Amino acid sequence: MKEKILVTGGTGYIGSHTVVELQNAGYEVVIIDNLSNSNAQVLDGIESITGIRPVFVEADCTDAAALRKLFEENPGIKGIINFAASKAVGESVQKPLLYYRNNLNTLINLLDLMPEFGVKGIVFSSSCTVYGEPDANPIDETAPIKPATSPYGNTKQISEEIIEDYIKSGAPIKSILLRYFNPIGAHPSSKIGELPLGVPQNLVPYLTQAAAGIRKELTVFGNDYNTPDGSCVRDYIDVVDLAKAHVIAMKRMLDRDDKDAVEIFNLGTGRGLSVLELIASFERATGVKVPHKIGERRAGDIEKIWADPKKANEDLGWTAVVPIDETMKNAWAWQCKVTGK
Ligand code: UD1
Repeated sequence: MKEKILVTGGTGYIGSHTVVELQNAGYEVVIIDNLSNSNAQVLDGIESITGIRPVFVEADCTDAAALRKLFEENPGIKGIINFAASKAVGESVQKPLLYYRNNLNTLINLLDLMPEFGVKGIVFSSSCTVYGEPDANPIDETAPIKPATSPYGNTKQISEEIIEDYIKSGAPIKSILLRYFNPIGAHPSSKIGELPLGVPQNLVPYLTQAAAGIRKELTVFGNDYNTPDGSCVRDYIDVVDLAKAHVIAMKRMLDRDDKDAVEIFNLGTGRGLSVLELIASFERATGVKVPHKIGERRAGDIEKIWADPKKANEDLGWTAVVPIDETMKNAWAWQCKVTGK
């Protein structure tokens, strides 16, 4: 068995897929999650894929006393992957304090306890949202950080700065900041996937629910952008590919002392796809039609952004490999499982 890793937000969408990959790679996993946007049954899904039930602590990372108790009761945690955060852009505009409190207090509490409990490194879930509307695509890690357009995006920028400042101050920890592009899809076993509460805000869960008849139709937010077909372009990355990058990042942090204390990587495929191309991919992969119409632009949307993943490809030795049609097939299989089809 390799080192013990704490995964905050480990019953969530990206968290649960990462727990599976950590366990597959031999790490021992402790999850902390307040179940505010996930369900404890996810633990059954993880166990049925890997044969191992991770230790689960139901608590809120903003509760410093609960976190301390977790570290006391689970000695020997060597690394943290921090997924615990609120992530809905629109909600963050309505409830900024909730976002600043959750996302920043969680991070501060974790950082504070790391030296005391001998935790060597933290992998942080950041986002391509820090780049704003890029001046040029693909975008690499040296591109300028643009002013955040939402409190959610601002929490990602501030979190990156908090980690950098803390390490600069001499804190004996390391960190890898992973800037995700658009994670989509589900585990190929259909045992775990994305479980949005209420009306999905993100494209793929809305698309699969529309295809399943749960939503009347998908609205494509705008077809008059300066893109080949007029709809917005993103870099959609399979969630299992993304999860695997976390395992590599953790290993690098724990095993190698020759690397910078803070490293930043874009995690994307390097390929931009439009909303309409994604719909076409889904229909091709599944044979199921997506009822959709063209609607107004969504306020705050970026026109086009896709990653230059060269640094992750070369330095981490990681590349996104799952073909988009496969990802869409998995997303659909998961939707069918959730709706009992
Ligand atoms: C947003 C955030 C990102 C965050 C992610 C996760 C920004 C700029 N981006 O990504 O930081 O990590 O959410 O929550 O803050 N679309 C439709 N119809 C729909 C839904 C979406 O056409 O019903 C389109 C959008 O206009 C966009 C694309 O699909 O072009 C992807 O949207 P979405 O899944 O919401 O992700 P982002 O906005 O790219």
